[in-house]
Amino acid sequence: MGKIHVLPERVANQIAAGEVVERPASVVKELLENALDAGATRIRIQVEAGGKKLIQITDNGCGMVRDDAMLAFERHATSKIKDTDDLLSISTLGFRGEALPSIASVARLHLETRAEEEAAGTVIEINGGKMIRVDEAGLPLGTAITIRDLFFNTPARKKFLRSESTELSHIASLVTHYALAHPEKHFELHSSTNALLVAPPVAGHRERVYQVFGKETLDQLIPLAAVQALERGGLPQPPPWRRNTDTPVRDVEEQDDSTRAGAPSTVAQGWSAPHAPGLHEFGEMRLHGFVSKPEIQKLNRNSIFIFVNGRLIRDRLVQHALTEAYRNILPPTVYPVVLLFIEMPAGEVDVNVHPSKTEVRFRQQTVMHDFVRDAVREALMKARPVPQFLSEINAQPSASPGLTPGARGSDGSQPTPWRRLYDPAAEFALQAPAIPPASGRLEFEGSIAVEANAAVSLARAPEATVPDHGCAPPIEQAVQAAPTLESLRTLKALGQIRNSFILAVNEDGLWIIDQHVAHERVLFERVLRQRAVQKVESQRLLMPLVIELTPAQQAVFSEIATELAHNGFEAEPFGSRSIAVKVAPAGVDAAQIEHMLNEVLEQLTREDQAINLEAVRTRIAASIACHAAIKVNMPLEQNKMEWLLAELAKTQHPMSCPHGRPVVLRYTMTEIQRAFKRI
Ligand SMILES: Nc1ncnc2c1ncn2[C@@H]1O[C@H](COP(=O)(O)OP(=O)(O)OP(=O)(O)O)[C@@H](O)[C@H]1O
Ligand SMILES: [Mg+2]
Repeated sequence: MGKIHVLPERVANQIAAGEVVERPASVVKELLENALDAGATRIRIQVEAGGKKLIQITDNGCGMVRDDAMLAFERHATSKIKDTDDLLSISTLGFRGEALPSIASVARLHLETRAEEEAAGTVIEINGGKMIRVDEAGLPLGTAITIRDLFFNTPARKKFLRSESTELSHIASLVTHYALAHPEKHFELHSSTNALLVAPPVAGHRERVYQVFGKETLDQLIPLAAVQALERGGLPQPPPWRRNTDTPVRDVEEQDDSTRAGAPSTVAQGWSAPHAPGLHEFGEMRLHGFVSKPEIQKLNRNSIFIFVNGRLIRDRLVQHALTEAYRNILPPTVYPVVLLFIEMPAGEVDVNVHPSKTEVRFRQQTVMHDFVRDAVREALMKARPVPQFLSEINAQPSASPGLTPGARGSDGSQPTPWRRLYDPAAEFALQAPAIPPASGRLEFEGSIAVEANAAVSLARAPEATVPDHGCAPPIEQAVQAAPTLESLRTLKALGQIRNSFILAVNEDGLWIIDQHVAHERVLFERVLRQRAVQKVESQRLLMPLVIELTPAQQAVFSEIATELAHNGFEAEPFGSRSIAVKVAPAGVDAAQIEHMLNEVLEQLTREDQAINLEAVRTRIAASIACHAAIKVNMPLEQNKMEWLLAELAKTQHPMSCPHGRPVVLRYTMTEIQRAFKRI
């Protein structure tokens, strides 16, 4: 007897759901795309419990007649393609005929729909893939789908869901970006407590960005638009007899050398006809959207949104092109905000690559890559000349305390490549011999090693042999020990190096203290202490500070509002997408408050784990400390330096800042003696 059998339809659907429905946001994506494919101009989304309990999407699209509504839940049932040829020119967002049966197999689904052709509407209910009700009802034109209890019958899946606020922020981000892609349509997103997005139709993308994110974000973005004629077609390839004759296509070798493709021509910003007929026989690639100015630095790629022919995609090729465009403008560890709409003939892009349809394959990869890179680069260059980028980047305080040309990152790492590019000193550091990263030492000129962040004494060369002291009288041997709180207490401040590092001495040797991170450490512990007894010092602002939040940030904000209040913030909703901050933690400049809040919200938005209050508390404290601390390049009076050293000595962890950077460097007596060849 054979062992193989065909899986029942319900099992097959659940397997498909495994790929298509990862989380509530994927359900929203599929249903939203269906509504857009149905030609809807009004889409309203309601969610509860981050979509885990309920997702409801109502559209005014073409709706379905009764037979179609029933067929829609069959596997591979679609109205969007008919045969394989259609796969080469897909113009709809859906085409697999998989989304509805997959979703219906892992949730409780309620559908209400009516098409123009029928007087009565259809109601269908499906529970975990089992159709339990089909009825007629008087309904408005369009479709409303309600999904309840997602993954109720697949508990293993359910366990992987994140906190409600994380799931909600994924949904909010997704809906926001579809709203950005379709400014001519009406979008709404509501949670049980908030209207996260209400976006009536507007004139264009610019207006939509303003409507959704506000003026400030719009001001930080550079609009761009470019078009490039295609030199050849993607798939299918032009027939060989047409080459070199009636088409301008070059021979095959030349064609493949796509780096020779001309730079994209930038077109007027008012451009707004993505589907206009091509300038060229093979059509053209068009690109428009927004990229952020170099001052905007995001910690992750969450603010990069790429649409290809109206489809939101994740794509490494485009990401790479963006990295290239921002090379030497942004350090490689941070990311810009990007909203790109790329349009090209359907035959140029294969969308049938991944079940969730978020990945695509470009048929002319290099051409596409270079087009995006050059168009973005050109927009950046136009917005601001290069020399200014350079001086600005150099003016920023470096993240790693490079003390000498030979200095490395505080963790013993190489200087980051972007510093390498601009900082001749850092360039020099590249040639310095490698130090095993575990040693955590910083090199001083003349091969003297200084312990960075020296909580433990490092192994030293044997000191048994007493070298010839020459004419210099011997100095009493100091006992080598790790720096302790006690040793910090005895420090005497001598002065500052470049108004940034305090030089201090005691019996242990010479110390260099980074004034910013030292103060950061002091404040960090103070805020945490005060928070523990609910007494964080705060200040009332002269004027309430209105801060615009993205829908995803709003979701996180409502979750951590109480914690923020305990940390000295008094903020309340102001309009639909802003908050008004009236009271802020003491010591943080009004100008820094917005930056600080954005930083905290941004970090939490990108987190996949459920929000952990303990971690939130630490983040907030670290952020307050960072923004309220004495800056580098700030002259300090003698008494202020002494105060700072004394305060630092009182902290529990004086050796590293909340972000893990070292606070103090010590140049021990032994090292000084060894450097002078006294030992
Ligand atoms: N909101 C809607 N309005 C009108 N028709 C719809 C709507 N949602 C789904 N349909 C119809 O149901 C069919 C099945 O939808 P489903 O999402 O399962 O597949 P698809 O969109 O064709 O392909 P994919 O699986 O790639 O999304 C669609 O082809 C469409 O005809
Ligand atoms: Mg679909």
